[in-house]
Amino acid sequence: MSTVLQAKGLCKTYIVNKHQNNVLKNIDLTVNEGEMVAIMGPSGSGKSTLLYCVSGMDRVTAGEVIFNGKDTTKLSAKELSSLRLEEMGFIFQQMYMMKNLSVLDNIILPAVESKNRTESRKQIEERGKALMHRLGIDEVCGNDINEVSGGQLQRACICRSMINSPKIIFADEPTGSLNRSSSDEVMKELLSLNKDGTTIMCVTHDTKVASKCSRVLYITDGNIVGEKELGSFSGDEGELRDRERTLNNWLMEQGW
Ligand SMILES: Nc1ncnc2c1ncn2[C@@H]1O[C@H](COP(=O)(O)OP(=O)(O)O)[C@@H](O)[C@H]1O
Ligand SMILES: [Mg+2]
Repeated sequence: MSTVLQAKGLCKTYIVNKHQNNVLKNIDLTVNEGEMVAIMGPSGSGKSTLLYCVSGMDRVTAGEVIFNGKDTTKLSAKELSSLRLEEMGFIFQQMYMMKNLSVLDNIILPAVESKNRTESRKQIEERGKALMHRLGIDEVCGNDINEVSGGQLQRACICRSMINSPKIIFADEPTGSLNRSSSDEVMKELLSLNKDGTTIMCVTHDTKVASKCSRVLYITDGNIVGEKELGSFSGDEGELRDRERTLNNWLMEQGW
């Protein structure tokens, strides 16, 4: 199994009003190709910061982040942003979509902006539409961003995160603002992407979401303090209940 992402001695310190906040403390982490890793832990423990640091959205204070064999902490801002655009997909809870563009135009933006672009705009649009179809949101293709439901918007975010066929998708509470049924839908899509080979790293506080992941990391106060291997999920409801039970017991031991 090849390693996609590795963090070594990762530290992140924020300084606010001369007060030093050591948010991530010497984190070591390895994510292998095809894994779907959940990051859990109390609010404020550093989950989002970890995701931002390993995905190059934020600079680390110390340590290395190796993505695809390259230390991304050594890259220039320009190199880093092109790496993110070409090789990584992002799904956030507060969904950053451009208000003046349609849903489809938002989805295809990363492909239109790509330096490695070989397709015409029309071809990219066709791919965008096919993705929207796959996620069951074709009917809102031409809508403005504020003319869709939360679940539709979140699925549009998934489409956008997929448009450049990334090696890895980073998701921060991707189902955090959704009701149970939309959340299940979104997870179904993420699992299917993962089955097709996309590595996923996902922050969540939802045990049902985490129990579908292949591995769960538990972080408190800037340290990874626990790790549970669940193996890949078959999609079976009975298996899901067992996995949830296993995970809940383990989380209790972690002090969840
Ligand atoms: N941009 C920032 N500037 C200053 N402090 C921050 C920033 N982002 C996060 N923090 C601090 O880092 C800590 C961890 O935050 P975060 O990673 O968002 O936690 P979680 O996602 O686990 O809830 C918190 O104490 C938060 O206040
Ligand atoms: Mg967070």
